[in-house]
Amino acid sequence: MSANKVNTRPTLRVELPECPGQAPRPLCFADIFGNDNPVEMEIGCGKAKLLIARARSHIDRNFIGIDYIWKFIKIGHQRAEKRGLSNIRFIKAEARQVIGEFTPLESIAIFHIYFPDPWPKRRHQKRRLINSSFAELLHSRLEPNGRIEIATDDFDYFMAIQTAFAETVSLWSSIEQSIDQPLFEAEAKTNYELKFMAGGRMLHYLEVLK
Ligand SMILES: C[S@@+](CC[C@H](N)C(=O)[O-])C[C@H]1O[C@@H](n2cnc3c(N)ncnc32)[C@H](O)[C@@H]1O
Repeated sequence: MSANKVNTRPTLRVELPECPGQAPRPLCFADIFGNDNPVEMEIGCGKAKLLIARARSHIDRNFIGIDYIWKFIKIGHQRAEKRGLSNIRFIKAEARQVIGEFTPLESIAIFHIYFPDPWPKRRHQKRRLINSSFAELLHSRLEPNGRIEIATDDFDYFMAIQTAFAETVSLWSSIEQSIDQPLFEAEAKTNYELKFMAGGRMLHYLEVLK
């Protein structure tokens, strides 16, 4: 499919172009989904197990899964098509670009970020997705009263995530955390959550309200 072209199959796939320096071209969710229902976005959705479960049980909401690995997007897309879901779309792209350049202000009801890559080596930590500027970016795209749900098994990254939200604390009405006890209603466990639970890893959850 050519850059930024949207096809008309029941589950759309949107390919985003590399466009550094260009003016933002916001996605129009009402056109994409054909309704004004609330939109939830999963960042790094992998094979989209949780997102598909949510899309099935919340047909009055819309769902966008973002991942930069084509293999996962394809699996998520096929699973959604098989279930005839019309309220879910996938974007194969880098999440910061999708959110920063294409996601309208105050348009997202919930950001889901489950088990973001922890980049444990010190020299790789600058590749981590969540830092204070990313927290500010998410805040700008969240609807009033919107929320962010985060889970990780990596304690060091969890501390860094807490710091990112502590540094932007004035933006948030509530920040809650827990260990081994999800803070949010989940229709399914994600693939990584199952894998880490089976391995006896301690899981850290954070819920942030705008
Ligand atoms: C550890 S996996 C977790 C997958 C899924 N959330 C789960 O819990 O099973 C992290 C996923 O995030 C994706 N990812 C990491 N950084 C990304 C980025 N900046 N933009 C888009 N996808 C990203 C990876 O390709 C991978 O599929």
